[in-house]
Formats: sequence, C-alpha cells, structure tokens
Amino acid sequence: MNTFGHRYTGLIEKYRDRLPVSESTSIISLGEGNTPLIKLSNLPKVLKKDVDIYVKYEGLNPTGSFKDRGMTMAVTKAVEAGSKAIICASTGNTSAAAAAYAARAGITAFVLIPDGKIAMGKLAQAMMYGAITIQIKGNFDDGMRLVKEVADHAPVTIVNSINPYRLQGQKTAAFEIVEELGRAPDYHCLPVGNAGNITAHWMGYCEMSAPDVTKVTESCALCEGHCKYACNIIGNRPKMIGYQAAGSAPFIRGAMVDNPETVATAIRIGHPQSWDRAWKVMSESGGWFDECSDETILQAQKLLAQSEGIFCEPASAASLAGAIRDIQSGKIAEGSTIVLTLTGNGLKDPDTAIGQCQGDAKMVTVGADLESVRAAILHNMS
Ligand code: F0G
Repeated sequence: MNTFGHRYTGLIEKYRDRLPVSESTSIISLGEGNTPLIKLSNLPKVLKKDVDIYVKYEGLNPTGSFKDRGMTMAVTKAVEAGSKAIICASTGNTSAAAAAYAARAGITAFVLIPDGKIAMGKLAQAMMYGAITIQIKGNFDDGMRLVKEVADHAPVTIVNSINPYRLQGQKTAAFEIVEELGRAPDYHCLPVGNAGNITAHWMGYCEMSAPDVTKVTESCALCEGHCKYACNIIGNRPKMIGYQAAGSAPFIRGAMVDNPETVATAIRIGHPQSWDRAWKVMSESGGWFDECSDETILQAQKLLAQSEGIFCEPASAASLAGAIRDIQSGKIAEGSTIVLTLTGNGLKDPDTAIGQCQGDAKMVTVGADLESVRAAILHNMS
C-alpha cells in the first residue's frame, strides 16, 4: 500500500473513536504516541531464560516521557472547556509536558515542583517552554495537596492524573502494544509512583479484550464509562506488575509513606493518587507490586544502555530491575512475552547518568596528538 502523504498527527486523531472527543473538538497535539516497541535481543541471553522481552520506549515522545499521551488529552479538553490556565504538581515529567502543551495551546501553565529534587533536563524543559515554575520547599505529595487546594480558589484546570482525561490518553499505549504484538503480552511491567499509568494501561487492555460493550461497562469501574468503545480485539489480558523504589514504596508497605526518598526522583512519591484503582488493577489482572533498591535500579539502567543501546531515566529502569529479578526467580514464567514500559528518556537526568559512569575505565583523557589517541584505542580494544 502506498502510504505517501500520510502524516501521523498524534494519538487523539488516531484513536478518536475510543477517546472522549467529538468532531468539533480542536486537538492540541505535538505528534505524541506511536513510540517504538523494541524487542531486546541481548539481555535474554545474559539472563539465560527463554523469554521474549519488549520495551515500549516512551522516552521518544515529544517531551521525552509518557506524560505527553495524557497531556494531549488533558490540554485539549481544558481548552475545549474554555480554560486559560492549567496547573500541576510534578516530579518533573508532568511539568515538562504541561508546559509544552500549554505553550502549544497558547495558555498558561503553572507547575509546582519539589525544590532541588527534579532532574536537570526536566527543569530546563519547564523553564524553556515558558511555564510559571513554582519551586516548593516540600516534596511531590505536598505539591499535590497544594494544587488541589488552590484549584478551588483560582481559575486553573488541574492536569495531574486525577484529571480523568490524562488516563484516557495514556491508555493508548496498551492499544499500540496490542496492535504490534497482535495480542496482549503475558506480563506488563511498569514503574509506579501515583499509579496512574499502570491504571491507564489496564484500562486500555480491558477495552481491547472486552467480550461486549455492556459487560465491560458493568465490570470495569476504572474506565468511568468510556468503555463503551470496547471492541473485542484480543482474548487475553496481561498480569500487571508495578515496581516501586524501595524508599518510596507505599504499595509494598501497604500504607502511605511520609518522607519518600529515591535516586529515581520521578517516582519519589509517598501518597499515590490512584491508590484504590491500582489495587483493583492488581486483583483484576492477577499481578503484583514489588520494590527495587536504588542500586539495582541504576544497575538496570546501565545494563540496558550498554547491552541494548537504550537509554532510559532511572525511574523507568525500575521496571527492568524488577523484571530481571522476577524472571530469574521464575515468578515470571519461561516462555512468556513481557512488555516493560520505559517511561522517560535517559537524557532527562544527565547528572545521575554521568555520576554513575564517573570512574569508569571507559572514560580517558589524553593529549591531543595522534600517538596518545592511538594508544588509548589499542589499550581499549577488546
Ligand atoms: N516513570 C516516570 C519517568 C515518571 O515521570 C513517573 C511519574 C512514573 C514513572 C510513575 O507514573 O505516577 O503514573 O505511577 N511522574 C509524575 C510527574 C509523578 O510528576 O512527572 P505514575
């Protein structure tokens, strides 16, 4: 088929019939979605396990994270409702996406971020896209509380994942995966902070596997009625697995965590906003939550970069760190097809990456002459 002249114009246009938009809705898009599903070829050999592992590289969205999927919907609907300003609390990626889509829409973005605790790339994005950036002397959970309070007293639309349009946009990642694999995976692993994204993926899989329209609307409270678009494309649904950083792991503790800490600042969250919904995802899918230490998260980030050429940010690597452990222990069965969501681009957090590689024998400084460079090459030939 000749596809010349066909321009991809973003996920709302593509999935219009499964999203809460109408013919007259004017879409705010930066061409988000349509991210690569890459099959890992070297890592399964290292693990010596017969598994198919795919990574959904969400770091290739326009602002470098999965948040763009939700933000195109949230900002489109905010503008449709006449809003002139949006607001969010963020560990960095939501603020980058909100800032970019607000700029695109010609409205104002206010972003609340934890002072000194967001990765440099994300701060640069919020500033460059022209958001009003409010650094608070507190963490994400404080920011979220303040955003909810202030939205009652100012004409601003909240675009955190408590905005239902965010999850509607994010569910499209599951649609893309099913389209490419021709079925749902057996397991789907994600890093968990607020647990919005794991909920959104489950919504997407449910909509695609729904036996019929009425049944889904009854059985799946997660979808808030939008399941009427269910289309019975697949027969299976994956077990959903959510990995948290050990210092920020309320789902593993079974209770909120007041002072969350982790090198994976994107998921430095102690009071998840989608607490009940994520537990429902686990019971419906037969999946589980688990935690990963900062050390294993950083190891997994480096392993993925150096064995497959894929650079994700630390939070994203939690899905790989956890999956490696569960594959090795047999909890994730051999013969399975596994999808890991790589939620954000590695370039978001250059400081952590450089810090991690500093001291590596691979970095040498030599004189600017042929002999020194030649010696460095010969010394490092494997
Ligand atoms: N991975 C990355 C890179 C993230 O930025 C986030 C959340 C998550 C995973 C967790 O997703 O909250 O839906 O469970 N970042 C938010 C932000 C909190 O403000 O950018 P979740």
